[in-house]
This record gives sequence, structure tokens and C-alpha cells, in this order.
Amino acid sequence: MRIAMIGAGYVGLVSGVCFADFGHDVVCVDNVAEKIDALRKGEIPIYEPGLQELAASNSAAGRLNFSTDVEAAVAWADAVFIAVGTPSRRGDGHADLTYVYAVARQIATAVDGYTVVVTKSTVPVGTGDEVERIIRETNPDADVSVVSNPEFLREGAAIGDFKRPDRIVVGTEDPRAIAVMTELYRPLHLNEGPLFFCERRTSELIKYAANAFLAMKITFINEIADLCESLGADVQKVARGIGYDKRIGDKFLHAGPGYGGSCFPKDTLALVKTACDAESPVRLIETTVAINDNRKRAMARKVIAACGGSVRDKRIAVLGLTFKPNTDDLREAPSLTIIQALQDHGARVAAFDPEGMKAAEQLLPSVEFGSDPYAIAAGAEALVLVTEWDEFRALDFRRLHATMASPILVDLRNVYPPQEVRRHGFKYVGVGRGS
Ligand code: NAD
Ligand code: UGA
Repeated sequence: MRIAMIGAGYVGLVSGVCFADFGHDVVCVDNVAEKIDALRKGEIPIYEPGLQELAASNSAAGRLNFSTDVEAAVAWADAVFIAVGTPSRRGDGHADLTYVYAVARQIATAVDGYTVVVTKSTVPVGTGDEVERIIRETNPDADVSVVSNPEFLREGAAIGDFKRPDRIVVGTEDPRAIAVMTELYRPLHLNEGPLFFCERRTSELIKYAANAFLAMKITFINEIADLCESLGADVQKVARGIGYDKRIGDKFLHAGPGYGGSCFPKDTLALVKTACDAESPVRLIETTVAINDNRKRAMARKVIAACGGSVRDKRIAVLGLTFKPNTDDLREAPSLTIIQALQDHGARVAAFDPEGMKAAEQLLPSVEFGSDPYAIAAGAEALVLVTEWDEFRALDFRRLHATMASPILVDLRNVYPPQEVRRHGFKYVGVGRGS
């Protein structure tokens, strides 16, 4: 099948490359010409493990192409995916659908023959109705089905998630569109059942409900972590102990500095807004959003307490800046709020991240960046582990002890066993490790 993927960001690029790898002909389209120029030269603008190699092999096979020409790609395609951003709208927190609707208008004028228009971006309930209205109003002759097909991949594990999904949700009741969507995802052994068809509005809500539930699960364990600290219990073991229960499950129960990233924060907020408008408020999610917002600054207070109550004029070394490992994405990363709060209290912050330095240098102009953990730890009062990159899992504590002003590790991801760190003469502070 011929696929036009509009928007070559994290989701569009990964989806386009994986569809090409399934054997489909794909053109990834973006309106940022430099991005397309780079992609044509084999340069992948984001850090996502495995993506470079998969893009290269499919480009070489002639199945994957890149373009800035939306109209030509749409006219050529059997299926057009909308994979542009839906950020929080400034001021009110609703999803900003400007980019989605702009693409819908471009699609309307360019479609040629029966085309399935698929919204892959995360969009509020009713957006598919509006996309369809825009297309039919702009071009009454357009022969289209408008389908919702939300994406559930995680950054850093995107290719595996796309190719081995727990499920593929498709919102359409149109038999022609069902046939096309079934064909597109055929390589994923559909007989085993991960393709779940439902109404379009239901599909749109599934995406928000899934992200909100996961955000709520993380927030739940973060609150239990705080309780562990007050009561003298260990959140790692509480998580394991409850996670054995299959009704609860062991995933997304890692306590930490609060969830970040380009999706959970904006999607929880957008769901709260949608629910308020529908006069059916989602109180659990409202509370989740508030707790998570407060948590990031609370993590800075944890660092300050570990340093004896003040960080004024002290050097604090921060390990990990991206919102999670294996990505270069700093959108809504907890590190940004934590660093700001530490600076507000007078700290001098030095930081290192394996892949996030380029973006960080722009976002954090008053931070000193070093080339590795030991460079930033030199003279530091405390080392704060914010993002659990693998390369931070085997730190040389003897070397750190020799170079730091005082040996304190604030491990916001509970990477290290406290006893091991203390054996090296460090003060250890984790999250929810009160025992
Ligand atoms: P992104 O910002 O990385 O990429 C969006 C791309 O669309 C950009 O490259 C931008 O230049 C391009 N674009 C915007 N308007 C365009 C137009 N008119 N024509 C062509 N290109 C255009 O965003 P993302 O992280 O890939 O997210 C996209 C959507 O997918 C969002 O709704 C997001 O919530 C959802 N989503 C993201 C993830 C994730 O892990 N990042 C996972 C699941 C769902
Ligand atoms: C998340 C969802 O996991 C994806 O299913 C979804 O497709 C995506 O949002 C989206 O809609 O964009 P992503 O944001 O890439 O994916 O990363 P996650 O692994 O979910 O992590 C999100 C945040 O939660 C990170 O800051 C992470 O550190 C934090 N987290 C995650 C925890 O603090 N504890 C956990 O147990 C899990």
C-alpha cells in the first residue's frame, strides 16, 4: 500500500520507517525543509535507538522517501496519516489542533481517488468529526474515510513498541476503511488479535484514557513513596509486592521525580479540560496533574535537605536531563524544574546527559555542562541522579568521592542499592526508601 505520513517527528518518522519495513511504500512529509534535507542524506534528526539503521535499509530498498510536498504525497497515497504535534494550547491547556486542521485542509484539496485519512496524532474526542467536516466542506467530491488510529509507542523503545504493540486501536465503522487498515497492519499477525476496531470517538478517548491511567499509576506510587519515607518502608518492595497481583501489574510503578515528556503532561491536562467542558470532570486526573506538578519542586527540596538545608553558592551536579533515558527529548523533563528550583535557592548547577546536551544548552543557559559524570562532580556538594541512563548505573564511587566537595548522592530513580553507596562513604538519599 502507499502511505503518506504527514509530520516527520518522533511518531511520524518511527511509524513511517516501520510501515516501510513491513513492505509498504512510504513517503514521510514535513514542512521543515531542513529536516527533510537531512533525512534524505540519511541523517536522523532525533535520537531513537535502531531508527537510523532501519531508515537506511528501507531507503536503500526504495520503500522509504522524504518530501516537503504534502499535496503530491496525498494525491499518490492510499492512506494519509496525520502525525503532527498537538501541544498544549497556550493559556488554557486544551490540545492545540491548529496543525491537525491545517493538514486536513491540505489533504482536502489534494486527494485523488479513494483515500483513508488516519489521525495518528493524539487528539480530543470529536477531532475526527471536524477533520471530516473540513475535508468535505473544502472538497465535496473527496472520496475519503476519516479514521482514528492513536499511537501508543514510547520514546526510547519506539521501534519495538510499534512493531510489537499490545494492541492497535482503530476507530472506524466504515467497511472500506476497515479493509485498508487491516491490510496496513497485516504483518503484525493480526490473527493473534491486537487489532481492535471501535467507533472513532471511542478510539480518540482510549488514547487519553490510557495515558491518563499510566500517569495516575506513576503518581500513585510516587505518593506511596512519600508515605514510605514517613513510615519507614521501602517503595521498591511495595511496588513489587503489589505488582505481583496481575490485576495491578508490575509496570509503571517506579517511583521517581514525577512524570515528564511531551505527552503525559499535555494529555492529562487536555483530558481534564475536555472533561470540564463536557461537565463530567475527571477528579482523579485533576489531582494527578496537581500532584505531579508539585512533585518536581519537591525533588529540589529533597536535594536541599540532603545538603543540610541550603545549597546557596554550592555546586550541585545533575546527572541526566532528558525526561527518560534513550531519547534526546527534554520536553517537560523533570530536570528542568528541579534545576530551576535549585538555582532559585542559589545553587551553581553543573550537568551532563548522554544525548540531551544540545537541547539542554539552549534551554538552560546558566548551567555549566561537562563531558561526563566525573567532570561535573568535581567540587560538587551533591550528585543528583535525575534520569536513569544505563551509563549512570556503574559509577565509580571511589573516583567520585575523591573529586566531590562532599560525598552525597541523591538518587531520584532508585538506581543504586543504598548500602552499596554508603559503603563507599557516601550519604545516600533515594525516593521512598525509608527503611
Ligand atoms: P513532533 O513535534 O516531534 O513532530 C511533529 C512534526 O510535524 C514536526 O516535525 C513538524 O515540523 C511537523 N508538521 C507540523 N505541521 C506540519 C504540516 N502542516 N505539514 C507537514 N509537517 C508538519 O511531535 P511528536 O512527538 O511526533 O507527536 C506527534 C503526535 O503524536 C502528538 O499528537 C503526540 O501527542 C502524539 N504521540 C507522540 C508520542 C511520542 O512518543 N512522542 C507517542 C504517541 C503519540
Ligand atoms: C508515554 C506512554 O508510555 C506511551 O504509551 C504513549 O504512546 C506516549 O506517552 C505518548 O502518548 O506520547 P513516553 O512519554 O515516551 O510514552 O515515555 P514513558 O516511558 O511512558 O515515560 C513517561 C514519563 O513517566 C517519564 O518521565 C518517565 O520517567 C516516567 N515514569 C515512567 C516514571 O516515573 N515511572 C514509571 O514507572 C514509568
